[in-house]
Amino acid sequence: MAATCVIGLQWGDEAKGKLVDLLAPRHDIVVRYQGGANAGHTVVSGSEVYKLHHIPSGILSGSIANVIAPGVVIEPSMLIREIEGLEARGIEPRKNLLISERAHIVMPWHFIEDKATNRAVVAGESIGTTNRGIGPCYRDKIGRTHAFRIADLMSDNLKAKVTDTVAAKLDVLRHIADPADLETLNADKIYDQCRVWAKSIGSLSIDSTNYLLDELDAGKSLLMEGAQGSLLDIDHGTYPFVTSSNASGVGVSAGSGVPARWINRVIGVTKAYSTRVGGGPFPTELSDETGQKIRDIGREYGTTTGRPRRCGWFDAVAVRYTARLSGVHYLSLMMMDVLSHFDSIQVCVAYDLRGQRITRFPCLAEDLRDCVPIYETMPGWNTDVSGVRKLEDFPLNARKYIERIEELISVPVGVLSVGPDREQTIFLI
Ligand code: IMP
Repeated sequence: MAATCVIGLQWGDEAKGKLVDLLAPRHDIVVRYQGGANAGHTVVSGSEVYKLHHIPSGILSGSIANVIAPGVVIEPSMLIREIEGLEARGIEPRKNLLISERAHIVMPWHFIEDKATNRAVVAGESIGTTNRGIGPCYRDKIGRTHAFRIADLMSDNLKAKVTDTVAAKLDVLRHIADPADLETLNADKIYDQCRVWAKSIGSLSIDSTNYLLDELDAGKSLLMEGAQGSLLDIDHGTYPFVTSSNASGVGVSAGSGVPARWINRVIGVTKAYSTRVGGGPFPTELSDETGQKIRDIGREYGTTTGRPRRCGWFDAVAVRYTARLSGVHYLSLMMMDVLSHFDSIQVCVAYDLRGQRITRFPCLAEDLRDCVPIYETMPGWNTDVSGVRKLEDFPLNARKYIERIEELISVPVGVLSVGPDREQTIFLI
């Protein structure tokens, strides 16, 4: 046995949480390995809806282990609220949640920095972050001088480290931040807060790297739960309109500590259309009533921020790029039900970039912004497919749409989803 990865192929919100929840019982351990509280993974079970930000979606699958690996940046207060929220609903996450002692912590100054630096980056457009301090925390991690990891919460040096870091942060932040925000940066209070965090989650912390390698050696299987989507990958996404971690498949090993030799299956998750939250180019965006129809039917509002998501047609240029980048074996095609009521459906098969037809995803945000989608129009199926449970039961036009996506991406569809419930899923693998 080895590792299966669930990777978003668009700009996040592809319903990865649902797939991880369904695959979790077939595995021994679920691993979250990048991102942080910017992610919002929704799992629907009967009438119960769970929204998870840090905790792997496997937490709802009984006793299997759930690991938050070193690549994740943790907002401890929110993680504790998540744990308590699950406990209030009869789930006991403390029994099977493990947190890497190497994972970094989003500290109070990171929120202030995020707010202060989330300014225009290209042609007047800002990244539009989730304001969860993600970028500043990863910046400090890479910078190394002012970063805190879970292990630091239990260290004898904690007080000195907090005191020094608050002084250093104030030196810089007083030039860029709102003065009212800086009043909260009190070293004693932050130290006390760290002690509260240590008391609550310190006992869950482990050397997850060796733990996962030992479990793999012992024949256990892992399910790697990606957060965000490949187009938000810091190195390979629509830079600079990306998140600060490797959200594509290439980030699995670095974030989890599990080397590539163990990864034997990658499932790329994509909606049957496209969405994006925050700033940045989005070639197939529909700023008209069709986009609004998709938003309304798909309930496309952010899990973490509540922001309306930008909606558009399926972009095969983008997904072909991310499916290759992430090494995808199967596609999981989600939200097919949302396209139930359209006379015709458009699929972007190439871009027109300043008069030139291209099928390669461009590097520069400025170029992507100038890309005009070249569409293929397909007949809609105008039938509610939310009750479909077998591939053969889809209307012919829906099956043609699925086949065309397989052809354009050159990857077979292994899972189809026709609604948020666990039952509304068709496994072809
Ligand atoms: P950050 O990750 O908060 O720094 O935000 C950077 C960009 O990634 C913004 O455009 C966010 O809207 C987007 N983003 C971050 N996390 C998610 C997610 O889980 N789903 C969708 N978009 C996200």
